Amino acid sequence: MIVIPTAVSAGTVRTAASSGKAAPPETAPQAAVSAPRVLARCRDLVRPSLSAAIGRLHPWPGEMAAFSLGWCEVGGAPADGSFEGKGVRQTLAVLCAEAAGAPGESAVAGAVAVELIHTFSLLHDDIMDGDGTRRQRETVWKAYGTGPAVLAGDALFALAVQTLAETPGPYTAAAVGRLSETLSGLVRGQAEDLLFAARPWTGPEAVRTDEYRAMAELKTGTLLGCAAALGGLLGGAPARTVAALDRAGRHLGVAFQAVDDLLGIWGDPAVTGKPVHSDLRQQKKTYPVLAALAGDGPPTRELAALLDSPLPLDDAGTVRAAALVEACGGRTATLDEARHHLDAARVCLRSVPLAPRATSEIEALLGFLLHRRM
Ligand code: IPE
Ligand code: IPE
Ligand code: MG
Ligand code: MG
Repeated sequence: MIVIPTAVSAGTVRTAASSGKAAPPETAPQAAVSAPRVLARCRDLVRPSLSAAIGRLHPWPGEMAAFSLGWCEVGGAPADGSFEGKGVRQTLAVLCAEAAGAPGESAVAGAVAVELIHTFSLLHDDIMDGDGTRRQRETVWKAYGTGPAVLAGDALFALAVQTLAETPGPYTAAAVGRLSETLSGLVRGQAEDLLFAARPWTGPEAVRTDEYRAMAELKTGTLLGCAAALGGLLGGAPARTVAALDRAGRHLGVAFQAVDDLLGIWGDPAVTGKPVHSDLRQQKKTYPVLAALAGDGPPTRELAALLDSPLPLDDAGTVRAAALVEACGGRTATLDEARHHLDAARVCLRSVPLAPRATSEIEALLGFLLHRRM
């Protein structure tokens, strides 16, 4: 039997601090608003509807979905709450409704839909990427098998559309249209991500940074843009505001993915809950490596030779590659890229009138996402 939680205390959002890790070397600036508290508040608001949605699934994919969300163990026994995701997309939906002057409740159906799509995309992504850990434990395909995991992803996908389509109100058709467009974008982004892995690191066929940005905007930015736009839409914002929120979310997506790439090389698996160096081993065209290869000089040439070698990278090779990416400035360039897109997101947000409190909470979230350790 699956035990689905209907509420969660404000203290359960995992953060680098709560995981007992030392403070990061680059300390996050003091924000007036605490992002973990904002994430927890929105999580509490969305949780009952998200739980009710999951409860509608067939019990088997329902258990896998609940496992994936961190709510239960294999077999359905309740989990202790330490395996949950950050909940960024649901939070963005709620905050953007509030930024439009509506109560956060008005965006809950949209928040549920984007969190379900996020969960579906991670479930399938881990199969595509062959990754065995996420959120501090086995991925769904590892725990339940690949076929069942595909099915659980499909179930979440269908549930997301159904949840939004069944929501009464004047914006339902527009919201479902936006979600379906988002799904196409996400699939296109994943297609590019997988194809890029088969392209060389150097030469005329090498992946360029502008191609990376387009891919990251699709695979990650479309859903963050959708979360923000659905919040605005369901909160009754005018079309111009919804469009600005969408653009802001897309920029946030590129920044978010760049930081995710960074954590995939230098993150601590005990904090990220995901494998480290998996992207390097799989020849994923991540921003830090592309930026490192853009220079010239001995470390860049050594890195290119290492990555272009026909032999797969062994453990020593991935450690050396990571050191060379850092020596070539790939880590710094990635943070600069993320900052640039966060600034672009801020410009979008400032282009329309938004409620100040929600805007400061969105700002806190942007800072948190840049400096996150998970
Ligand atoms: C990971 O997303 C996948 C990417 C789009 C990079 P999150 O970092 O938001 O994952 P959770 O939900 O917090 O685990
Ligand atoms: C995640 O991309 C994007 C989607 C799931 C659509 P990644 O493959 O880079 O994310 P992680 O690092 O596995 O979470
Ligand atoms: Mg992945
Ligand atoms: Mg992937």
